[in-house]
Amino acid sequence: MSKEEKIFPLRESTRLGVRIACKKTEALDICSLELRPLEGQSLPAFAAGAHIDVHLPGGLVRPYSLCNDCAEPDRYVIAVLRESASRGGSAAVHEQLQTGQQLSISAPRNHFALDAQACKHLLLAGGIGITPMLAMARCLAREGADFALHYCARTRERMAFADAIESAPWAHQAHLYVDDEHNRPQLQLAALLEQASPDTHLYVCGPKGFMDAVLGAAEAAGWPQERLHWECFAGEVVHHDEDQSFEVELASTGEVVCVAAGQTVVQALESIGVCVPTSCEQGVCGTCLTRVLAGEPDHRDMYLTEEERAANDQFTPCCSRARSARLVLDL
Ligand code: FES
Repeated sequence: MSKEEKIFPLRESTRLGVRIACKKTEALDICSLELRPLEGQSLPAFAAGAHIDVHLPGGLVRPYSLCNDCAEPDRYVIAVLRESASRGGSAAVHEQLQTGQQLSISAPRNHFALDAQACKHLLLAGGIGITPMLAMARCLAREGADFALHYCARTRERMAFADAIESAPWAHQAHLYVDDEHNRPQLQLAALLEQASPDTHLYVCGPKGFMDAVLGAAEAAGWPQERLHWECFAGEVVHHDEDQSFEVELASTGEVVCVAAGQTVVQALESIGVCVPTSCEQGVCGTCLTRVLAGEPDHRDMYLTEEERAANDQFTPCCSRARSARLVLDL
């Protein structure tokens, strides 16, 4: 995705009505939803790595990766882990959604696409991070591409889609690792990354600890940034005791709102009737990305690259704050 596309996200993303054709348990605390178009409608095409925003009961909106093959034109499949520290999203999916219900979703967006220049693809998934990787593996297998999937989970009962992977025609390209199965080989991360050829691209998705371990090992093995691709699932929004209030100015009207120490920019803007679309609210998905015309953001997201942060011309108002007394936003 180009930077321009990132700076100017769809402010009013198109909402689609879909029907839950099937809800089923995929593993302990993980359920999948198969979403089909409503009568007489169709679904926009997507590419592996894409996600949709799902509008949940209670007004919550959450992003979920599509895990089915993008060659399937008439369905989207997502899988959702019930988070023990759920802020309501995963609990709503598990407890309130049922087969047959209608849902509102966004069109697919993709910040985690396969690199068309790559000759080989190394897919590393941790836990629920398997979802975009499954779509990638299915796509790469269908195209006859050179890839390997390495999938780690704490226990077999928490390993969603393990049976589907082990029975897939590309099962020989998949390696499953279960922490508590000591008779299975464990992932030799450093060796795997050191042995990969220089035309390999690495894709990683999973919990923060898993991502940090993989990306840290890749860095230690000398992988250049341009061959690393990642997507986080759960962000850890950083709050500092010393957080200060600051001002936000709307460039279009000149209106100024104060963002209090315990408030997000999105909340402050809401208080004056300005709605910035959000999804993860944790600096992970990029839905709220907003252009900054003046002032210096205090970036607290995991979405922007280091270069993009340094440019200081965009930020994620769901979690990021300001180092300057005022930010002027392109709103
Ligand atoms: Fe996801 Fe702000 S809503 S990054």
